[in-house]
Amino acid sequence: MSFNTFGRIFTFTTWGESHGPALGATVDGCPPGVALDEAFIQQFLDRRRPGTSKFTTQRQEPDQVRILSGTFEGRTTGTPIQLMIENTDQRSKDYGEIAQAFRPGHADIAYHLKYGIRDYRGGGRSSARETAARVAAGGVAQAVLRDLVPDLRITGYMCQMGNLHLDPANFDASQIGQNPFFLPDASAVPAWEDYLNAIRKDQNSVGAAIEVLIQNCPPGLGAPVYAKLDTDLAAAMMSINAVKGVEIGEGMAAAALTGTENADEIRMTPDGPEFLSNHAGGILGGISTGQDIVVRFSVKPTSSILTPRRTINQRGEEIELITKGRHDPCVGIRAVPIAEAMAACVILDHLLLDRAQTGGVRGRIG
Ligand SMILES: Cc1cc2nc3c(=O)[nH]c(=O)nc-3n(C[C@H](O)[C@H](O)[C@H](O)COP(=O)(O)O)c2cc1C
Repeated sequence: MSFNTFGRIFTFTTWGESHGPALGATVDGCPPGVALDEAFIQQFLDRRRPGTSKFTTQRQEPDQVRILSGTFEGRTTGTPIQLMIENTDQRSKDYGEIAQAFRPGHADIAYHLKYGIRDYRGGGRSSARETAARVAAGGVAQAVLRDLVPDLRITGYMCQMGNLHLDPANFDASQIGQNPFFLPDASAVPAWEDYLNAIRKDQNSVGAAIEVLIQNCPPGLGAPVYAKLDTDLAAAMMSINAVKGVEIGEGMAAAALTGTENADEIRMTPDGPEFLSNHAGGILGGISTGQDIVVRFSVKPTSSILTPRRTINQRGEEIELITKGRHDPCVGIRAVPIAEAMAACVILDHLLLDRAQTGGVRGRIG
């Protein structure tokens, strides 16, 4: 199976399966001299880790990262960084019933049609366990970004779960880490808890939407045709398991706008150009403008549910399937730190590309 590598200059290759002994990422292209240790990467993994609230799977995976190479005396050396996370809570017996059956909505049937090999234990390589490796790689990217662009902020949060929507008027970033939903509105948390409890009791699951806000991104990242920053951000988000749609700025809502409504008018200030609105989501012509970059994506409901669904088995027989095991009722929740990691890797890769091509020259205005 090929295509396990992300990026152009800052790259990572993930390896491993959900029920193998370990998984990880080999990060290459990381500049030398960047302060990096396991504790720094661990903080990102801890945000993604399952079992942290009753609304995520009760699988207990400590997701302890080890750095096997690429650092010396707490700094990167510029050589490949090997990151490893041991799998400690695999229960293959949880998957006994689906060994022969294809879960509707999961990758089982497509994998079988392509590879003809079935690793039913957690879906093997299609399992979102793989995203732990990306979050670890994202931690390396965050360490580099902290050095290169100290003001850059990447903030992910839930903005929708089922038919509950975040009220933008209540947005409070300080609340994101204070509740199980990465929700920037403390007042909405009880309603979100009741809603998800009801979904779970109903032996069901639900979809979600996540927004990632990238603040203080330098202008000039991206390229006009085949390395558009928006293309790469969209691909990065779409590569996360269960993501079904990605939008930048107004996204699909732009279809309903007129040109006068959508124009982000420009004024001149002593500090440089200023945009009066941000319908574009911080990217024009594939290149960052210096405005906030706004990426939004939808995550489908968890396909493994306890309510019987009609499907077929490997012998082609029509059956009804209940998927037991420990599954998140809303996988969108844990997609938040994964999306932040992917955003960090895309921005760093583009920062290094931009330095390689332009040496960081910036067009002056005024
Ligand atoms: C963090 C995270 C955890 C996930 N956990 C589960 C799970 O426990 N059970 C499940 O059926 N799907 C889970 N998924 C979704 C599947 O991995 C995904 O739906 C599957 O690989 C099929 O791929 P697709 O939905 O992208 O087409 C999870 C997704 C994410 C992002």
